[in-house]
Amino acid sequence: MSFETLLVAVRDRVATITVNRPDKRNALSAAVRRELLQALEALRQDDEVRVVVFTGAGDKAFIAGADIAEFAERTPLEQRQAMDDRRPFDQVAAFPKPTIAMINGYCLGGGCELAIACDLRVAARSARLGQPEIKLGILPGGGGTQRLPRLVGFGRAMRLILTGEMVGAEEAERIGLVDLVVDDDALAARTRELAALLASYSPVALRLAKDAVRAALEMPLSAGLRYERELFVTAFTSEDKQEGVRAFLEKRAPEFRGR
Ligand code: COA
Repeated sequence: MSFETLLVAVRDRVATITVNRPDKRNALSAAVRRELLQALEALRQDDEVRVVVFTGAGDKAFIAGADIAEFAERTPLEQRQAMDDRRPFDQVAAFPKPTIAMINGYCLGGGCELAIACDLRVAARSARLGQPEIKLGILPGGGGTQRLPRLVGFGRAMRLILTGEMVGAEEAERIGLVDLVVDDDALAARTRELAALLASYSPVALRLAKDAVRAALEMPLSAGLRYERELFVTAFTSEDKQEGVRAFLEKRAPEFRGR
C-alpha cells in the first residue's frame, strides 16, 4: 500500500498507520482523511491483519488536529460537503478489528477525536491532549462532543471542550482519556506488546466483544444485555471457540484462525 500522506506497515499481524506530515504536526488534511479511508478499507479486508495501530510521524505530534489552513478559504457549503463524505473517525469507531492510538506527542482536535474513536489509547508521558477548537471560534466536529463525554464523563468533556486547554498524559490517564501512559522511549515497544496480545486472540471473539461493548454506548441496559447474550451465542458458532476451549482443556496454547 502506498500513500502520499500515510505510511502503512504490516508486521506480525499488526498494521501500523502513521500519518506522515511531521512538518505540519501531522495535521489532518483532506488528503489524509481520504487516504485514511482507503487504508482502513484495505486493512479491513486483509485477513492477515488482526489489529490496527494509529500514530504520527516524528517526535512532536500524534496529530495536531484538522488542517487549519484548509479552513481558511472554505465556504460553509464546501465544509458541509467535506463533512458529509464518509467519515474516517466513524469508520475507525466501527472498524471490526481492535484499534489502538499510539499517542506520541500533541494529540489535539481531530487527532484527539481519532484517538477516542479507537478502542485503546497508549500515550507517551510527554504527550499533550486536548480539544482546542474553541480557540479558533469553532467546536469539535469529528465526534468529539459526543464521544468525549461518553469516555471521560460530562463535566470533564465540557471542561476540555469549553476551555480548549490541553492536559498532560498523566492527567489524561487519570480522567480515562488514555488507558496507559508509558515513558517516551518505551511507547513503541509497549504498544507493540499490547497489539501482539490482541493479535493472538480470536478475531471473531474480538469483533463480537468490541461490538458488545460499543453497544453499551447506544442501548438501554436491558436491550444491551439481550444483545450481549446473542453475541455470546454467536461466538459459540465459531471454530475459534472450539479451539480455545479445547486448548484450555488440553493444556496447550490455542491457535485461533478467525473462523
Ligand atoms: N493545521 C495546519 N497546520 C498546522 C497545524 C494544524 N492543525 N498544527 C500545526 N501546524 C503547522 C504550523 O502552522 C507550522 O507550519 P509552518 O512551519 O509552515 O509555519 C508547523 O505545523 C509547526 O507548528 P508550530 O506551531 O510551529 O509547532 P509547535 O511545536 O510550536 O506547536 C502545536 C505545536 C500543535 C501546539 C501548534 O502547532 C498548534 O497549536 N496547532 C494547532 C492545534 C489546533 O488548534 N488543532 C485543532 C484544529 S481544529
